[in-house]
Amino acid sequence: QSKQAARSPAIVAAVSNAPAARQLTIVYGSQTGNAKRIAESLFERTEALGLAVRLVRADRYVTRELKDEQLLYIVMSTQGEGEPPDDSRSFVEFLLGRRAPKLPQLKYAVLGLGDSSYPLFCGVTQNIDARLAELGAERLHEVGTADLDIETVALPWQEKAIAQAQKILKQNETPVASVTPLHPKPAKVSRDQPFMAELVLNQTITARGSDKDIRHIEISLEGSHLDYQAGDALGVWPTQAPALVEAVINSLNLDAGEAIEINGISRTLKEWLSHHRELTVLTKPFLLAHAQLADSAELKKQINTIESLKQLLDTRQLVDILKQYPAPWNATALVNALRPLAPRLYSIASSPSAVDAEVHLTLAHVEYEHEAESRWGCASHFLSGLKEGDKLPIFIEENARFRLPADSSRDVIMIGPGTGVAPFRAFVQERSAQAADGRNWLFFGNPHFTSDFLYQTEWQRALKDGDLHRLDLAFSRDQADKVYVQDKLLESAADVYNWIEAGAHVYVCGDANRMAKDVQQTLLQIAQTEGSLDLEQAKQWLDNLAAQGRYARDVY
Ligand code: 2AM
Repeated sequence: QSKQAARSPAIVAAVSNAPAARQLTIVYGSQTGNAKRIAESLFERTEALGLAVRLVRADRYVTRELKDEQLLYIVMSTQGEGEPPDDSRSFVEFLLGRRAPKLPQLKYAVLGLGDSSYPLFCGVTQNIDARLAELGAERLHEVGTADLDIETVALPWQEKAIAQAQKILKQNETPVASVTPLHPKPAKVSRDQPFMAELVLNQTITARGSDKDIRHIEISLEGSHLDYQAGDALGVWPTQAPALVEAVINSLNLDAGEAIEINGISRTLKEWLSHHRELTVLTKPFLLAHAQLADSAELKKQINTIESLKQLLDTRQLVDILKQYPAPWNATALVNALRPLAPRLYSIASSPSAVDAEVHLTLAHVEYEHEAESRWGCASHFLSGLKEGDKLPIFIEENARFRLPADSSRDVIMIGPGTGVAPFRAFVQERSAQAADGRNWLFFGNPHFTSDFLYQTEWQRALKDGDLHRLDLAFSRDQADKVYVQDKLLESAADVYNWIEAGAHVYVCGDANRMAKDVQQTLLQIAQTEGSLDLEQAKQWLDNLAAQGRYARDVY
C-alpha cells in the first residue's frame, strides 16, 4: 500500500546481510521523511549505475557489521536542539559511545539535514562525522550540512558521493545505464511542483478570551488527483506579507523593482523577498554575514556564545536586526545571504474517507508584539489571512511512520495537546470509516476549557457514537496548579499500561521540546511502576514499541 515501501524494497531485504567487500552501505535516520527521501534517491541512483549498494534505516542497522564496512554514507537529520531522529537514537548512541570499534578499513561521508535557525545546526551529523574520523575512518569529503532548502546542499553532496562510490567500487564492466539516473519525471504534484488549491473555510476555533488564535482551515483538492492518508502532512508554500517585504526594502533604501539574477533566474527584489526568501526566521550564517557588514563588535559577540545566539534566533526577526545594527546591504548581496524560503508542513486534521477531496488543518496563528510593532510566523500568518476562494500552493508529504495500526482491532492511545490534536481528528475519522473494532483513547490539553477546547462538539459526538472510547482532558490553567496531558496519563497509569501490553499503539503529536519529552518520561515511569521494570528495561520496552511501530511521534 505505502508508496514509500514500494520505492525501497532493499531496506528490508538487506537488513542483516553482512556488508560485502565492494559494497556501499547507506544508513539513514529521518524524522519527517526528508533524510529518507534523499537517502532513497542516492540508493536509486547508485543502484542504477550498477553499484552494489544497500539502504538501511538506522534502527535496523546491525552495529556489529560496522567493522566490516568498506564504504559508508550516512544521511541523517538533526532535531531541535541537536538531537537525533527517533529512528536513530541507538545507532548514534552506539557510534558516539565507548563500544564503537576502530574503523581503519572504512571510507565514509556524512550528509546532515537541519535548520540553521537553531544554534546546534546539524549537530548530530557534525558529531558523527568527527567521531568516524576519530575511530580511524577516512573521510571522503566534508560533512554536508543541508538547511531547510535541502537540495541546495544535498544535490551537490550526492553528486560527489556518487562519483566517489563509482571510483571506489569500480563497477563491473557492464556499462549499464552509466549516465541514466533513472528519474522518470511525470508532471506530478510535488514539493517543487505544488498544486494551486482553493481555500474553502478559514475559521477561528478558539473562543473570545483565549490567548491563542487557532484556526480550522479547509482546502479543496478538487482537480489535483492528490490523495493522502490519515497521518500525512500538508506542505504549504507561504507568501511573505507585503507590509513586511516593504519594511525590509525601505529600511535599506533599496528599489523593489531591481532585477536580480541568481543561478540563471531573474526576478525583482520584491519577488525574491515575497516568495523565495525567509524574512521571519533568522539563521546563524545570515547573522554572521550581517555582523561583518555592519562591522558590529557587539553583534559578533552575541553570535559567539550559544546562549545569546539562541536568544537572538528565538526572539529577533530580520527587520529587528536591520534596525538595530544598520548595514549597507545591496539587493543582490541581501538576497544571496538570506535563506531560501522553505515550505511549512502541517499535520493533516482530516481523513480522506470522511472529507473526500478536501484536506483540513488545525493551526495556531503566531502573532505577537515586539517593540510596539506586530511580528508573526510566516506561514501561519499567510494561511490565517486567506479568505474563501483564495488559492495557495500545496503538496502532500507522506508520513509513513505515523500510521494507524493495519489491524483495526488494535486499540490506540493518542496524546495531542494544543494543535497536536490535528492528526487525531484524522485518526478518529478514519477509524470510524474503517468501522474499527479497536478502542480509541484521546488525551487532549490546552489552557482553558471555555476558550480552548478544540473540536469540542466533534469529540462529544464521537464519544456518543462510539467512535471515541475515552477522552482525558488537561486544561492547564483552569486551576491553581498546572495540569498537563502527562498528569492525566499518570492518573490512569494502570489502564495505559494494560492497553499497551494488550497491543495498543501509542501516538504523540505536538510540541517537541517540552511536551513530547515529558510524555516520554511519563511512559517510562508508567512502565517502571506498572510493569515492575527498572529504568533500563523501561527504555528497552519503549524502544521495542517504537521498533514495532507502536510508539510513533509527530513532534515539532
Ligand atoms: P500551559 O501553556 O498552560 O503551560 C497546549 O499548548 C497545552 O500544552 C497548554 O495547555 C500548555 O500549558 C500545555 N503544556 C505546556 N508545557 C507542557 C508540557 N511540558 N507538557 C505537557 N503539556 C504542556
